[in-house]
Amino acid sequence: MCGIVGYIGYREAQPILVDSLEKLEYRGYDSCGIALCGSTMILRKDVGRITELEKRLSRCEAHRGIGHIRWATHGKPSQANAHPHLDCTGKIAVVHNGVIINFQQLREQLTAEGHHFYSDTDTEVIPHLIEKYYSGDLEQAVYHTIADLVGSFAFAVLHEENDVLIVARKESPLVIGIGDKESFIASDVSALLNHTSRVIYLEENDFAVITGNGVRVVNQRHKVWRKEREIPWSVESAQKGGYEHFMLKEIYEQPTVVQNALREYLSLSGNGLNIDMIKNARTRGVLLLACGTSYYATLLGKQLLEKIAKVPVWAEVASEFNYSEMVSERFLAVAVSQSGETSDTVKALKKAKSMGCMTLAITNVLESSISRVADQTLYTRAGPEIGVAATKSFTAQLMALYWLALSSSAVEMQICQSLLQEMRLLPDKIQQILDNAERIIPCSQLLAQFEHVFFVSRGLNFPIALEGALKMKEISYIHAEGYAAGETKHGTFALLTPKTPVIAITSPDNTYDVLLTNLREMKARDVPLITIASENDQEIDKFADEVIRIPDVNPLFSPLLNTVVVQLLAYYTARERGCSIDMPRNLAKSVTVE
Ligand code: F6R
Repeated sequence: MCGIVGYIGYREAQPILVDSLEKLEYRGYDSCGIALCGSTMILRKDVGRITELEKRLSRCEAHRGIGHIRWATHGKPSQANAHPHLDCTGKIAVVHNGVIINFQQLREQLTAEGHHFYSDTDTEVIPHLIEKYYSGDLEQAVYHTIADLVGSFAFAVLHEENDVLIVARKESPLVIGIGDKESFIASDVSALLNHTSRVIYLEENDFAVITGNGVRVVNQRHKVWRKEREIPWSVESAQKGGYEHFMLKEIYEQPTVVQNALREYLSLSGNGLNIDMIKNARTRGVLLLACGTSYYATLLGKQLLEKIAKVPVWAEVASEFNYSEMVSERFLAVAVSQSGETSDTVKALKKAKSMGCMTLAITNVLESSISRVADQTLYTRAGPEIGVAATKSFTAQLMALYWLALSSSAVEMQICQSLLQEMRLLPDKIQQILDNAERIIPCSQLLAQFEHVFFVSRGLNFPIALEGALKMKEISYIHAEGYAAGETKHGTFALLTPKTPVIAITSPDNTYDVLLTNLREMKARDVPLITIASENDQEIDKFADEVIRIPDVNPLFSPLLNTVVVQLLAYYTARERGCSIDMPRNLAKSVTVE
């Protein structure tokens, strides 16, 4: 979604802003712009990619500026609606993430007072309010402006007469990069990796005045100290490293992701997390909250916690939970989110907390919003995920949920230890799938010809069927549905024809025989049938058109291996269809609006 960058220091700001905006491209956007301040304000913005805008930029020596990528919410993608937005004098420029709920009312007031608006955005009221309140003291003008705003925001202000950048945040993230005689701002650290590893994360309602020589942070009009931190991610981790796409790179990073998770969790100490909190939950129940791919992780998490830890679990789509009457004060609420910024998930966790639940965040991003809300956080440490489609972060979430189930397990310690022993073999098994990835390509070439596909499974692998379908539709634009195989006869069968391939995920567990019965019924409707099956499974060859093999594994862990296969299937199908894999149309990496 929208991204903010800014620079103030001794170097030319323009190339730094362009580079930083490029690093945020993965978030998904439709227009972009920069404002630079030398002796006067220079504004460049348009619809389309940053590389297109860059071609039209002439050299500018200004040493401070702000930039933005926009994912349209208020008003269609257009040059007028792109950020930065200016006031009437053209001396004040603002970039903003978030939503100003009362913008219509403010706009009407300001219009009555003589201000002219050029865009349909909620953001444009901010520079006009600053203009209204400015009488030589920019800080005061921004304070007064914030007092008028209802909604969420992270915004940055550039003023022709003030050699500073001013930023403020409420419910939208903002990070300040500290350099040597230069400072940077960004809505996420990926934009800063090329320039500095020293950062300050702003907290809720912080306001900061930034110069090339430092940062002064204020909260509730009092100066506050915010700890400087080292970014834990390397520059290389956010580059393609020779892979055709970030998504492929991230799929191939999964053996390492699993290995790292094992190293962290195997001692069952789980990064200092208070396990008692989870154990206490046994008597109460666990409420899992998430969206999209992360929600599918929670669907497996539910089964694992119920099966291994014998805890009653509810897995809820965050956006639905937020408007439900579900009463949850006696639960442990666990919010799962790669970005930690998904608006619905943050809202759901806040709701659960306000009902009296204990709260835990499982997230990949340090200092993200859900980690600020939760009582405790379990970081999945998958490294930066740039491809819009979640891959390694999903696997890392699954590992965290396996750990949660095992560490709060009602299973005997001996069995628990032997399960952990089997988990140690997982990185190698995933690597084996990746080493044979080329064998999946013919199946993808087949799938690429169809417009509708079904992913089916049962039990522990049902969430992986849902995830496979989501991956397929979001990057290949093929209509894909994930189904519990037993449910297909209750309506979906009407759609089965030779034009609707079925991808079935099998596992030699208690669902195997009944799943095969379901598949035979589907095959009788002449569907092209691709199955994902264990290397030891001979039965499946008798009726599947194609079989993708995974190494033999304890069925409890088969979802981790099958995940990699469905990701590769989606990836190669999208590649076959020539789709924009890392930045699928209309999608954003982190969904910060409801
Ligand atoms: C799909 C995908 C999305 C996200 C969802 C939640 O590949 O990435 O469905 O899983 O938007 O995002 P997070 O996990 O950041 O809360």
